[in-house]
Amino acid sequence: MNDIKKYVQENKQRFIDELIELLKIPSVSADSAYSQDVVDTADAVKMRLEEAGCDLVEICETPGYPIVYAEKMIDPNLPTVLVYGHYDVQPPDPIELWTSPPFEPVIKKTDIHPEGAIFARGACDDKGQMYMHVKAMEFMVKTNNLPCNVKFMIEGEEEVGSTSLSWFVERNQEKLKNDVILISDTGMISNTQPSVTTGLRGLSYVEVEVTGPNRDLHSGLYGGAVANPINILAKMIASLHDENNRITIPGFYDKVEDLSDDERAAMAKAPFSLEAYKKSLNLNDVYGEKGYTTNERNSIRPTLDVNGIWGGYQGEGAKTVIASQAFAKISMRLVPNQEWHEITELFTKHFESIAPSGVTVKVKPHHGGQGYVTPIDSIGYQAADKAYTESFGIKPIPVRSGGSIPIVALFEKELKSKTILMGFGLDSDAIHSPNEHFGIFNYLKGIETIPLFYKHFVELSK
Ligand code: BES
Ligand code: MN
Ligand code: MN
Repeated sequence: MNDIKKYVQENKQRFIDELIELLKIPSVSADSAYSQDVVDTADAVKMRLEEAGCDLVEICETPGYPIVYAEKMIDPNLPTVLVYGHYDVQPPDPIELWTSPPFEPVIKKTDIHPEGAIFARGACDDKGQMYMHVKAMEFMVKTNNLPCNVKFMIEGEEEVGSTSLSWFVERNQEKLKNDVILISDTGMISNTQPSVTTGLRGLSYVEVEVTGPNRDLHSGLYGGAVANPINILAKMIASLHDENNRITIPGFYDKVEDLSDDERAAMAKAPFSLEAYKKSLNLNDVYGEKGYTTNERNSIRPTLDVNGIWGGYQGEGAKTVIASQAFAKISMRLVPNQEWHEITELFTKHFESIAPSGVTVKVKPHHGGQGYVTPIDSIGYQAADKAYTESFGIKPIPVRSGGSIPIVALFEKELKSKTILMGFGLDSDAIHSPNEHFGIFNYLKGIETIPLFYKHFVELSK
């Protein structure tokens, strides 16, 4: 297995070139203008899985975007690893803030990535991280180092809620049978302190609509005499947090699991500089729920955030108008045990109840999913621990992340298997933001670490 370092060194340029080619296809799942590109990306992934040596590679049609499925079954008595990833990406906007076009990948050096990083939408989330698995597979097959069976399931709707994947998983339990699910779609603390993600937050995403008068009105003739939906919406949203930044929806915290002092103390041991954090975001202070640290606020605590708000006149100059309607998109990040349908319902009931007379409100649920925690005493976690320790020379720290991959909880429910989250991105890689990038070091280190996971997983399973 020491040949992996050599294999990566010898094929490094090709690995980078192939990823760059994949990043050129703008597979934005949220925007139907890119639908052909999304489908083309599935085809490109299929071709690469064939080249990597998978025996069966297929494009599985769904009611939405296709799922690329592949497998190499070498022995039914050996364990099976199911690799999940996504080939769709977030919309690139605001495009004017990119220092190079989002779908024309370029390598640039940064303070954190002195060896260079690939700048492109999807570089880290998740094309780059998904492609590490394709290249690790290529290495294992070409050099006779594949120790078990492998299945790949790469979807194209992760960034829009994985609707078709749920449909697919429910219908293909037998086909997807596995002993462990392996995903690289999260991050780690830093390049000198690897970590393995042991938790993801759940999500409830809703859109709200506040309607006042039946048409936009002159704000002089009617102002002060009728409810202004934008004023009302702002007030309603402001009331969703109290003075301690706790969420005011009745019942919201009922099922939130409080961590023990020991667990909180263990979490606090992970290296973290509040000064560097503030500096990296150009903030003079952090903000959040009273009584919790920054790392707790963004991982083990639930949140409610407005993701977008609109209504009224936003063009050049001034227009005196009371809009008929105001809107907002709101996400609630949930922690294990909070049930997302229940939270969506609590939100809806509360939001409707705080609307003053003079307006009507509608709450439209979008999508959601359950949070997840991986036990660190499992074979899968132990294998990941050994793999990182071997490739980085440093033992990884278990860390609960604030992000969500809602499909992970569904995998556990439908396929009855645990997911191991071996992420290689960094928080500073700007996923979902302008100038997303993925370190060359991280990309190659990921390719090196993955085969070690397979090796240890198979050994520990014996
Ligand atoms: N890869 C991310 C999730 C992630 C990133 C988890 C970093 C942990 C660390 C994923 O693609 C994502 O963006 N998920 C969405 C949820 C989805 C339902 C749109 C999210 O977290 O907003
Ligand atoms: Mn992702
Ligand atoms: Mn994402």
